[in-house]
Amino acid sequence: MEIYLDTAIVDEIKEIQEWGLVRGVTTNPSLIAQTGRDYKDAVMEVLSLVDGPVSVETLSDNAAEIVSQGEEYATWGDLVVVKVATTVEGLKAISQLRALGIPTNATLIFSLNQSILAAEAGANYISPFVGRLDDIGGDGIGLVAESVDYVEENDLDCDVISASLRHPQHLEDSAKVGAHIATCPPSLLKKALKHPLSDIGLAAFFSDWRKASRNVRGLEE
Ligand code: G3P
Repeated sequence: MEIYLDTAIVDEIKEIQEWGLVRGVTTNPSLIAQTGRDYKDAVMEVLSLVDGPVSVETLSDNAAEIVSQGEEYATWGDLVVVKVATTVEGLKAISQLRALGIPTNATLIFSLNQSILAAEAGANYISPFVGRLDDIGGDGIGLVAESVDYVEENDLDCDVISASLRHPQHLEDSAKVGAHIATCPPSLLKKALKHPLSDIGLAAFFSDWRKASRNVRGLEE
C-alpha cells in the first residue's frame, strides 16, 4: 500500500517527506483553503515538492467545465491527477479526460455503486471516504474492501485510495483490506508511528548506551 499525504500545507509535506515514504499527495478545496493561499499558487508549490501524483480538485459540476479545468490543471505539471466529484457530470468528465490521456481521481465516494460507476467510466483512482462514512454509522473500511475487490476482479486500471482517514486504525485497516493507497493527514501518520513501548525501550537503550559509551562522539557529558 502506498502512502499519500492528504494536505496542501507545504511545511507539513516537507516534514513528512523526510521520512522517505511519501508517494503522492491529495488536495481538495478545503485543504487548500487552510493554506490561506491562492488555489493555483498553493498547488504549484505542492507540485514543486512532490515526486509523485498530486490530486487537484475541479470546482464545477458541469462536464464541459470540469474537462476544461482538468486540461488547464494538466498543464501545471506532469504529475497532476484531476480530482472529480462522482456525479453524473463528473462521470462524463472522467470518461472524456480519460480519452484525452489526463488521469482522474473520482472523489466523494460513499457507496460501492459509486466506486463501480467511476471505475467503469475510466477513473484512474477512486477515493472512498472512510471517516465521513463512519461518521454517519456506515462502514468506511468495508467500502474500501468492496471497491478493491471490484476493481481487481474486473481487472480495471484503477487504484483505490482510502481517503478521509481519521485515526491510525484506519491506516492499518486500509492495508488489511488491500487498499492500493492510503491518503493520510500528517497528524495521523505521527500518531501511527508512536508506541509507548518504543518510547520506553528507547529511553532504556539511551540510558544503558550512555553507561557503556561515555567517550562516543556526541554523547560526552
Ligand atoms: O482528500 C479528501 C479526504 O481525505 C477528506 O477527508 O477528513 O475532510 O473527511 P475529511
